[in-house]
Amino acid sequence: MLLKILQILLLTSVMTAGMLPEEKAQLRSQVIDMFKHGFGSYMKYAFPADELMPLSCKGRYRGSEPSRGDIDDALGNFSLTLVDSLDTLAVLGMFDEFECAVRQVVQHVSFDRDVIVSVFETNIRMIGGLLGGHISAKYINSRHPVRLSWYRDELLVLAHDLAIRLLPAFNTSSGLPLPRVNLRHGIDLTLSKSERERFTCTACAGTLILEWATLSRLTGNYLFEQYADRAMSYLWDRRHRQSNLMGTILNVHSGDWIVRESGIGAGIDSYYEYLFKAYVLLG
Ligand SMILES: *[C@@H]1O[C@H](CO)[C@@H](O)[C@H](O)[C@H]1NC(C)=O
Ligand SMILES: *[C@@H]1O[C@H](CO)[C@@H](O)[C@H](O)[C@H]1NC(C)=O
Repeated sequence: MLLKILQILLLTSVMTAGMLPEEKAQLRSQVIDMFKHGFGSYMKYAFPADELMPLSCKGRYRGSEPSRGDIDDALGNFSLTLVDSLDTLAVLGMFDEFECAVRQVVQHVSFDRDVIVSVFETNIRMIGGLLGGHISAKYINSRHPVRLSWYRDELLVLAHDLAIRLLPAFNTSSGLPLPRVNLRHGIDLTLSKSERERFTCTACAGTLILEWATLSRLTGNYLFEQYADRAMSYLWDRRHRQSNLMGTILNVHSGDWIVRESGIGAGIDSYYEYLFKAYVLLG
């Protein structure tokens, strides 16, 4: 998330090269106002739910609204929007709100729940959000010691706890993660053989390394980085021998491609994104 924001900033700095300073300042404050409107409304109407339903101004909790199918696998009753917003608050310089949000996460978010979540979404939004929040908290505190002086790595502890809960998904012969896992009970073996659970997308199996390598390097537990690395290397070995292209959906157990078409759209895009960003982050 942090990297994505930096890239957007870089891109916009190219696009706005011909703008007057006051035009830039006006756009800048417009962006901050839009974020404040979205985040403030979530906190006012929806927190501690995962999402804000913008028409009814109510919170969306997992299982309490009619199902939207796979989209709902991102919801784990763990205040998703709040966690996902932490690093944005820090990057936008909203330090009071950031400190308050970190406190809310520490007080309200926990993961011992009987809920099946998407490994991919939980990684990029929750583990990514917690790690981005942790790194931002340390950085802000090092620059302004009065801010977050109470902080004792709680977000990192939460990220570690959540990642441990995702680990059972990696118990496959290929090392590719199953698409979904129960946060309390892990993997149900009969379910893991079903068609819905056997197949996963390239992005789902290959969009882990940034968070998992960061987590390993912050905690000293190298298991996470190894699992993500193994899944990525396995995927790369499945590329087409002549074209080097990857398909879009594959069988987690055999590694066989189910959808052989390649592309840069949904289901594969973030795999490429993470390859490049892992090169930047890890050298
Ligand atoms: C999520 O929380 C809501 C509200 O507390 C509750 O109704 C729902 O059953 C919970 N869902 C799960 C899967 O725990
Ligand atoms: C891994 O899966 C095997 C069966 O495929 C099962 O017997 C074993 O308990 C699982 N291990 C973990 C840590 O989930």
